[in-house]
Amino acid sequence: MTKPKVFITRRIPDAGLSLIYDACEVDLWDKDLPPSKEELLQYVPGVDGILSLLSDPIDSDVIQAAGDKLRVISNYAVGYNNIDIREATQRKIAVGNTPGVLTDATADFAFSLMMSAGRRVVEAEKHVRAGKWKTWGPSTLLGVDFAGATLGIIGFGRIGKAMARRATGFGMRILIYDPTAQAMAEIIKVDLDTLYRESDFISIHTPLTPETKHMINAAAFARMKSNVVLVNTARGEIVDQEALYDALKNHRIFAAGIDVSDPEPLPMDSPLLELDNLIICPHIASASTSTRENMALIAAGNLLAGLKGERLPFSVNPEIYN
Ligand code: DGY
Repeated sequence: MTKPKVFITRRIPDAGLSLIYDACEVDLWDKDLPPSKEELLQYVPGVDGILSLLSDPIDSDVIQAAGDKLRVISNYAVGYNNIDIREATQRKIAVGNTPGVLTDATADFAFSLMMSAGRRVVEAEKHVRAGKWKTWGPSTLLGVDFAGATLGIIGFGRIGKAMARRATGFGMRILIYDPTAQAMAEIIKVDLDTLYRESDFISIHTPLTPETKHMINAAAFARMKSNVVLVNTARGEIVDQEALYDALKNHRIFAAGIDVSDPEPLPMDSPLLELDNLIICPHIASASTSTRENMALIAAGNLLAGLKGERLPFSVNPEIYN
């Protein structure tokens, strides 16, 4: 029996990759950098399935270039803004993602960015290495407090909830903005304006959609407290980066910790890189060994289910089964 043909856009952990090799004829893009759009268009024609990363634009051109055999797109990420879901759904192509397994790793990282930016950990470390540590000083590198402070969480899905659990342990008051979420014990559901006005820390955990693109803009920064620390581990495009630069540069806000940017990677001439009150990381919030292995298992499971014509264990367009 002929095996289904799949294109995998990058080497994922063996835990998942070996399952796919056992069942499929595999074309693996085994390079450090992602395939360009042109290369994607070149590699997908005739495949039954695609396993993609969040850095691969699986848009209508790529889906159409794959052709009629394409049955499943399995994204190695919980976010799927890189995929044209409408085009896939119209063509009854199943799209899968990897929710759940990266919740704790991502919340851990968001929390560490929040603490590091609030207590100026990276700046302090650079201060020592630059030979600026001359003595103990009463006002050297002062930061902000966490106990009793208010954390505003934008997007109260799995990761937002995990962030709230961590913050509760630090004695923080928690506000949430999420039109679809229910208030819970000690978690106060508010409108966006209240969240901006009352939060000492704001952490973004909402997906990127046309509605959330640039939701954190100059008008939003103008409504925030001047001591606020902004954390973004979701998607870079949710924050208007020019407005972020202005807010940090002019000390309109205290600091920011971002794991995502627009674009990614952030160009080395970005003015953001000149700022001491910004911590930027290269989209690594889910980067723990076991999390990435579990993501690989789920992505492989979605891919193989789709190839067999079965319902994906983690489907983002279940309407195709109606
Ligand atoms: C995701 O899964 O969407 C994260 O951004 C990377 O793990």
